[in-house]
Amino acid sequence: MPIAGVSERRGVRTGAGLLDQIGNTPLVQVGSLTADLAGIEIWTKLEFLNPGGSVKDRPGLNIVNEAEISGRLVKGRTILDATSGNTGIAYAMVGAAKGYRVALCLAANVSRERKQILEALGAELIFTDPAEGSDGAIRRVREIYAQHPDEYFYADQYSNDANWRAHFESTGPEIVAQTEGRVTHFVALLGTTGTFIGTSRRLKRDVPGIECWSAQPATPLHGIEGTKHLPAAIVPRIYDSTVADGNMWIETEACHRMARRMARAEGLLLGISAAGNLVAARELAERLAAQGRRGVIVTIACDGAAKYLSESFWGEGE
Ligand SMILES: Cc1ncc(COP(=O)(O)O)c(C=O)c1O
Repeated sequence: MPIAGVSERRGVRTGAGLLDQIGNTPLVQVGSLTADLAGIEIWTKLEFLNPGGSVKDRPGLNIVNEAEISGRLVKGRTILDATSGNTGIAYAMVGAAKGYRVALCLAANVSRERKQILEALGAELIFTDPAEGSDGAIRRVREIYAQHPDEYFYADQYSNDANWRAHFESTGPEIVAQTEGRVTHFVALLGTTGTFIGTSRRLKRDVPGIECWSAQPATPLHGIEGTKHLPAAIVPRIYDSTVADGNMWIETEACHRMARRMARAEGLLLGISAAGNLVAARELAERLAAQGRRGVIVTIACDGAAKYLSESFWGEGE
């Protein structure tokens, strides 16, 4: 069953609403990353082409759709959640399109561009202590919901199965179709873990022999917005440690270098985690090459560079 509101093919339908344009993003090969590795390909899914600008449009829409169907979200209730930004943008967009108010708790140090987008979409923003990261925002949202349970629909992207199911029903099958079943490896950084868990579960069901690798920031304090170093974080309820075949640890500086390289070598303007996913994909490619193996590695361009352009790393280094 497809998630509601996913169009058959971007751009060819007329008369469809904005939310029908979520999903069916292009998958592109990043040729310059494996030019020196025979028989290995790296592909990334351009999730920044979703209408809200990120991969989180998929769970944002599916969480709201499933809540409407179950009756947990009814007209007059406010959609409430903790979000580092992209899911908030998705909720704010879906809320505006469907006629719900949206209230969001987020660490006060998320990028200025994200705050401006959320405010433009009409969301109410509740800022929490940056030192507590996304976990501080989760604690605050739980307090608010406990005080006023009848006013809010607590979307709870960290515990809501509609999060990973969005990827099980859309991202996973799209990757199978777009690679014509050739995909051999999937890798993605973990945040709520919905992208990795949902996509991997589908790929493991449908593609014999596939390996799915998670990736995480190498340290608890890092600059890879939207992602988590799980050993030092509240582990999301939807996370399932049995899904990953292995995990890679990613340094923030490597993401910055990759973002610069992709902009200049490929014309790909990536966000930091999207660049980090390519760091992980390249490391996987090197391991395969060292073992004399071939591979079709797929990863996710979670969002684009637009929300990070004020960061100084664009002008640093090589
Ligand atoms: C920019 C960015 N990258 C990666 C992720 C991680 O994706 P997931 O929450 O599906 O694990 C997020 C999640 O919000 C994100 O906003």
